[in-house]
Amino acid sequence: MDYLRIQGPTKLSGTVTISGAKNAALPLITLALLAHNPLKVTNMPEVADIKTLLKLLQNLGASCTLQDHVLNIDTSTVNHTMANYDIVKTMRASILVLGPLLARFGHCEVSLPGGCAIGQRPIDLHLKAMEAMGATITIHAGYVHAVAPKGLKGAHIIFDKITVTGTANVVMAAALAHGKSVLVNCAKEPEVVQLCEILRDSGIDITGIGTSEITIVGTGGKTIDMVDFEVIPDRIEAGTYLCAGAITNSTITLERVRPDHLDAVTAKLEQMGCRVECSADTMTIHPAAQLKHVDIITQEYPAFPTDMQAQFLALATLAKGASSIDERLFENRFMHVSELQRLGADIKLSGHVATVIGPCELYGADVMATDLRASSALVLAAMAAEGTTNVHRIYHLDRGYENLEQKLRALGAKIERLKE
Ligand code: EPZ
Repeated sequence: MDYLRIQGPTKLSGTVTISGAKNAALPLITLALLAHNPLKVTNMPEVADIKTLLKLLQNLGASCTLQDHVLNIDTSTVNHTMANYDIVKTMRASILVLGPLLARFGHCEVSLPGGCAIGQRPIDLHLKAMEAMGATITIHAGYVHAVAPKGLKGAHIIFDKITVTGTANVVMAAALAHGKSVLVNCAKEPEVVQLCEILRDSGIDITGIGTSEITIVGTGGKTIDMVDFEVIPDRIEAGTYLCAGAITNSTITLERVRPDHLDAVTAKLEQMGCRVECSADTMTIHPAAQLKHVDIITQEYPAFPTDMQAQFLALATLAKGASSIDERLFENRFMHVSELQRLGADIKLSGHVATVIGPCELYGADVMATDLRASSALVLAAMAAEGTTNVHRIYHLDRGYENLEQKLRALGAKIERLKE
């Protein structure tokens, strides 16, 4: 197993290029299941989760090649409809094949994803929506069996809760259903918006994109002549590098980024005393003379993202005063707190609210990554800590950050990947 050794404190400078968004690319790969033509997708992030999903698509019979961030994918040869446990257990986003497979083939079997480090993360809303569209769902031996022999039919669906992959799954199912679907209380994340825009650009009658109510007229089971596309920049990777500038008291520039997707993150950095300068596709962070405390509540887009919570918790350890971070999306997304405490952070956890008293003096230590974003928070804290930090279990990082240590090293960080 690999781990990262980081020498702190470190100063960064220069420019970093942001990769394509993992969380946009995952549903877009499964979107290809609705296409009858081969697709070329550019700006594909080369991270472990993407490779896992491509393996799943290959198991279904698709042909996929990923090279130099270009994915060529052809799903016309798909002849299996089962997403098995071996893959789904390693990546919950595999559930994104449910809607497309069911809509295209009238049946599929997808392993239940099981537990997860950041919370319970049920898929009940995905399943309820498929039932509302006429599917019969049974759960047997750890698998969801979904059947709709005559195809799915359009429905009026009100999501009880806003769900990102739930919205994506149901939008994809509705695109091939018979008749019109009206989806209410949808996720408005840029990743969902891009999925809808590709369907629109491919000729699907879809309105309400980027709002909480999406209306789609399905093709009645016919696969789609889909356009090629480029994956949007990763707003969470970008936010993480903005935090890297802020926590190391450095000015750095991000290229190939969508500043408008980061408004809530930028607002919090500015409240903390940083200055963020933006052009159409670049962002430069100028650090604060002294970071100020901040109050954050994680919510659905366009509010502050839960996927930036851990990184801001790391940042808040250097801010003067009491910061409060209220995690509203996932009940267990504070596993990094005890690891940050090992580095010297003064954090009190009460239910879903973490209170950080700063500025703390951070010292290097051995710490363990517990999930993807928790891992990046530890790397950030390590760059601000005095001495050597070893971040273990970085396979979590590799799931979603492309070349993190190369990118940080190019900015001047003292970071190396070693074997346990
Ligand atoms: C997506 O997960 C992201 N994953 C997550 O990114 C992100 O943290 C999350 O959205 C919230 O922004 C991908 O895009 C692949 P949800 P998702 O369904 O879609 C509850 C990362 O670090 N819920 O929007 O699985 C759920 O438990 C990650 O890159 C139900 O109750 O999240 C949670 O409390 C991790 N029933 C809330 O809704 C359901 O059927 C939001 O979850 C579905 C969800």
